[in-house]
Amino acid sequence: MNQITIKGGHPIKGSIEASGAKNAVLPILAATIVGQGESHISRVPHLHDVTTMNELLAHMGAQLTVDHHADISICTDNLKNQTAPYETVKTMRASILALGPLVARYGRAKVSLPGGCAIGARPVDLHIKGLQAMGAKIKVEDGYILASCDRLHGNRIVMDKVTVTGTENILIAATLAQGETLIENAAIEPEVVDLAKYLKAMGADIKGEGTSKIYIQGKDQLQGTHHAVMPDRIEIGTFLVAAAITGGSITINNSCNDDLDAVYDKLTESGAIISTTENSVSLNMHGKRPNPVDIRTAPHPAFPTDMQAQFCALNSIADGSSHITETLFENRFMHVEELNRMGANIHVEGNQAIIKGVEQLSGAPVTATDLRASASLVLAGLAANGSTAVHDIHYIDRGYESIEEKLNQLGAKIVRS
Ligand code: UD1
Repeated sequence: MNQITIKGGHPIKGSIEASGAKNAVLPILAATIVGQGESHISRVPHLHDVTTMNELLAHMGAQLTVDHHADISICTDNLKNQTAPYETVKTMRASILALGPLVARYGRAKVSLPGGCAIGARPVDLHIKGLQAMGAKIKVEDGYILASCDRLHGNRIVMDKVTVTGTENILIAATLAQGETLIENAAIEPEVVDLAKYLKAMGADIKGEGTSKIYIQGKDQLQGTHHAVMPDRIEIGTFLVAAAITGGSITINNSCNDDLDAVYDKLTESGAIISTTENSVSLNMHGKRPNPVDIRTAPHPAFPTDMQAQFCALNSIADGSSHITETLFENRFMHVEELNRMGANIHVEGNQAIIKGVEQLSGAPVTATDLRASASLVLAGLAANGSTAVHDIHYIDRGYESIEEKLNQLGAKIVRS
């Protein structure tokens, strides 16, 4: 079941419910490590990465149950080991999020060093530097990060670069440190704010989340609690592009509109009519061909790198030329060659894709190389003439809950085999 075949040319029409956010639930599950007693996490998306994080926590000795809604009850008291093994980290880089919580609560952690990945080198030096500034002794041995300390202490930590999981690792660790921590140049992504909301519900003292300065007053202990995960803004953006690229119309309920301004602006520029209510968004393309839109990815609130590949697909059938500049990850244009196999005219120069819109893509066998690349190929397949077979589709299950069911419900013709 590692291939999906899409019969293109059917406009996306109808309504769906957004799932919980992958990039929020992963740090939240890691953060359960700093709470005593049980936490109950709801609106958990059914994703491969969530299963991997659950397996990692269970491997450490967490007591974990998943109910029929995929809600998770978890207790991380008395973890018998504090190791994130290579086999897990190599399949999911977000396993690095266990480092801060483990060293903060248990005084030690052994986490495999993530290697390079399909979209670039992705170092974790800033995670390590931050924890060292809080008193953790860290060495790298045999491919593992070994961290230890008696108790972390607060400090002023200036992040050299804006890093999402780096900020999250330090934020979680600081909730149990002695004294105050100030994270400067912190990531302001909505998922960092959702994580802080969960930590605060556990009793953490955090101020400034959602700004570039986060102040954390460490506590002696935190208590497990209930938290409902925020909606997935990247899933929402991807389904909006699905409607836009097919000239269709869609309503997405449970949306988080304030977090999607940059994406809505670009969709409007492409010719879509967007309207919102407090927690829903509707897009109507009225059967039109998209206008080309220039994009430059950057940390929130600018245009998210996780939506770049989807807009490459949209621009590939636009009425004119566009430039997409990727500023975060050096190798995030692997979908381009595959889109070109479908008749797109995209040329990559350094960190820029120059796209000359073509009137029509044509179905072809293509291969997914990473999560968002796989989404862009599915989107292209929805718009293409004929049949598109996307191979290595397993990447898509890391970040999209029931993607083919949701798209078929909206009128797409997709089968997995
Ligand atoms: C997170 C998201 C990912 C998204 C990315 C950027 C999760 C689980 N993943 O990834 O979907 O694409 O943010 O929005 O939330 N960097 C360093 N040193 C470090 C850490 C990062 O140089 O120690 C660099 C990276 O190579 C990259 C940039 O900082 O160029 C941003 O990366 P970062 O925000 O850390 O991405 P992730 O947290 O891995």
